[in-house]
Amino acid sequence: MRLVLAALALLTMPAALWPQAAGRFPPDSLINVQVFPRTTPVAEVTAAMRSFANGLGVRCQFCHVGEEGMPLDRFDFASDEKRTKLVARQMMRMVQEINRRLDTLPGRAAAGLEVSCATCHRGVSTPTPLSTLIADAAMAAGADSAVRAYRALRQRFHGRDAYDFGEGSLNAAALRVGRAGKYDEALALLRLNEEVFPSSAGTSVVRGNISLMKGDTTAAEAAFREALRRDPAGNEARGRLRAIGRQP
Ligand code: HEC
Ligand code: HEC
Repeated sequence: MRLVLAALALLTMPAALWPQAAGRFPPDSLINVQVFPRTTPVAEVTAAMRSFANGLGVRCQFCHVGEEGMPLDRFDFASDEKRTKLVARQMMRMVQEINRRLDTLPGRAAAGLEVSCATCHRGVSTPTPLSTLIADAAMAAGADSAVRAYRALRQRFHGRDAYDFGEGSLNAAALRVGRAGKYDEALALLRLNEEVFPSSAGTSVVRGNISLMKGDTTAAEAAFREALRRDPAGNEARGRLRAIGRQP
């Protein structure tokens, strides 16, 4: 009876009070798993953890109580103290739901693709599209900050899966910023794009559109003509020129 009571007390103890599986990594058993079935082999859990960390481009201490450089056997993996761990649990449930839904696709190949953390996160902890990051920075802190942010991200992540450094991102960011009435900031983002993609017709089209928003028809005409020079088949530039009463 006393044993049963002790066991019950253990089960109802708040997570912070759980006895730590101190001094062993990998641990002998799982203490506080709520999404993984309790019977999951520990090795399977630690393999999943490595893929969480890689998928988000973080280390264990992003979600667990412990510090950089600390041996893993001193981490408190069972603790639910960090908000990010609680978010990750919800994410695990979300991924399970998504994959259950994928299983219902008609005519799905036996080895159909599964969604994992990396599908959305692509190596960053908050999977914000580059165009959104840059447009937000331009609107909140000005074009110089946005340009610095872009350069720093490009330096660190270019060639990785994390952010789309193709020419579309800064064009999309500039359009968003332009629609918010911040024409000079938008044009600064386009100058940066011009530097990275000097022969992009798309950037010239967007420059023309921002110039139109600004009411500068002369600059718009020049930008659309430049777009056509770069890409003679460009329908948008041609249409815009006609729309402002100019011969393409
Ligand atoms: C993005 C967040 C995140 C990262 C990064 C992460 N974990 Fe976890 N970890 C979790 C979550 C959430 C659980 C609980 C899962 C559940 O409730 O089923 C967990 C559980 C564990 C457990 C089981 C603890 C117990 O209750 O017995 C171990 C061990 C563990 N993680 C080790 C690691 C290691 C080692 C790393 C680094 C390689 C790591 N984790 C990185 C979120 C993370
Ligand atoms: C369908 C896309 C998607 C998948 C799959 C996904 N996430 Fe996320 N995750 C997001 C989005 C979007 C956010 C930002 C949510 C917000 O803050 O509004 C996010 C945020 C997070 C955060 C919070 C980051 C922070 O700094 O606040 C963690 C932790 C996280 N995800 C872990 C995971 C883990 C672990 C997995 C895999 C089990 C996963 N995610 C799978 C889309 C996804």
